[in-house]
Amino acid sequence: MTSTTTPPAHDSRHFRDVLGRFPTGVAVVTALDESGTPVGMAVGSFGSVSLDPPLVEFMPARSSSTYPAIARAGRFCVSILGADQEDVCRTMATKGADKFAEIDWHPAPSGAPIIAGALAWIDCTTVQEHEAGDHLIVIGQVEQLSELRPTTPLVFFRGGYGGFSAPSLVAAPERDLIEPIRLAGLARHAMEQLAQEVRAEVIAVGDVAGHTVSLAVADSPGGDYVPTVVGYRTPFVFPVGSVFIAWDEAATDAWLPAAEPARGQGIAALDRVRRRGWAIAIGDVHYDQLERSVSRLFAHDEQASIATAMQRLDGGLFDLELERGATYDVRMLMAPVFGADGGVALGLMLRGFTQHLDSTEILAIADTLTATADEVSRAIGGGAHVPPPSRGGVEEVGRG
Ligand SMILES: Cc1cc2nc3c(=O)[nH]c(=O)nc-3n(C[C@H](O)[C@H](O)[C@H](O)COP(=O)(O)O)c2cc1C
Repeated sequence: MTSTTTPPAHDSRHFRDVLGRFPTGVAVVTALDESGTPVGMAVGSFGSVSLDPPLVEFMPARSSSTYPAIARAGRFCVSILGADQEDVCRTMATKGADKFAEIDWHPAPSGAPIIAGALAWIDCTTVQEHEAGDHLIVIGQVEQLSELRPTTPLVFFRGGYGGFSAPSLVAAPERDLIEPIRLAGLARHAMEQLAQEVRAEVIAVGDVAGHTVSLAVADSPGGDYVPTVVGYRTPFVFPVGSVFIAWDEAATDAWLPAAEPARGQGIAALDRVRRRGWAIAIGDVHYDQLERSVSRLFAHDEQASIATAMQRLDGGLFDLELERGATYDVRMLMAPVFGADGGVALGLMLRGFTQHLDSTEILAIADTLTATADEVSRAIGGGAHVPPPSRGGVEEVGRG
């Protein structure tokens, strides 16, 4: 046994430091005051208390100037904040601010505001209030509740804001994954900005032992797609993975189909990827089948059906020539991130587009994507994409 001297429990700095080691989610408790004006406060002390009857609690400070109005209303609504709502939290934690001036909301059944963009809401009637030191413990009976957005929560930890990743969404740190994961970590910030800008899911894809592996994912705000599972691998099989093959001569032969005309199609596809600086895939029934198999992978062992679906993919729908003015069901765009050795270190992939895109829109998105990929290349010590010198002749819709 070691005996150490610790500051006393009533040392408030020490109390906050130690208790700050316990992470909390962040919620906003709202109500309408007597004049029908919305009031609200950010709380980390929200929690569930009882299932039968359904009770929840939160703990307002006695010094709160907002809580008395919530108490008088006798009803309140709790909105659970998402990882992208730090600004909402800051506003709702500012004493004296006009908290609802810039916040969208709609009424819960009780009339209390549900904060737009929240992950879920819980509408309650106040049933108990207990005194507890300089705080109160308020118990609410849950009247109605609902989930709103399938995204990750805002987390408060040691005085700072952060996010959450489920263990099942973190790739296993196998030796061959450590460096690609480190690089994907460096791309994180740029990926999040890109997801906001183009409103699609952004995935950092690595080349690990002959497989493409999703290493990190940035969510699109309001995206309507099944999220990519981090750690998921697919083998490099034509026509998938052209971004990695296009700059890797040694791997090209094994990737290209042996038989014509698929072989010629593959060579032309790689040429286009090198010239444009990005890859593209258009959807069809076989692509749908592949996506379904992939999304079921973690429920059942779907490796076999993934292999079958990949074999059925139509090479003609990957890295194809785009026709000016034509509209496409784009399923993925990917640009290379170059490492210090000049090889492709990562692919930055976009997916989850909510509508069909015409060739002009595709080129604009591809430009934003390649600009981000170039920025990440420079950040990890590599160079930007340089299109190979033109061999004259055909000019197509595209970069370079
Ligand atoms: C992450 C976070 C968690 C908070 N949790 C609580 C809480 O549980 N109880 C509380 O009284 N205040 C909490 N606050 C502070 C209040 O949001 C804030 O002081 C208060 O609402 C603003 O003053 P007002 O109530 O006088 O308007 C928290 C603030 C933040 C940023």
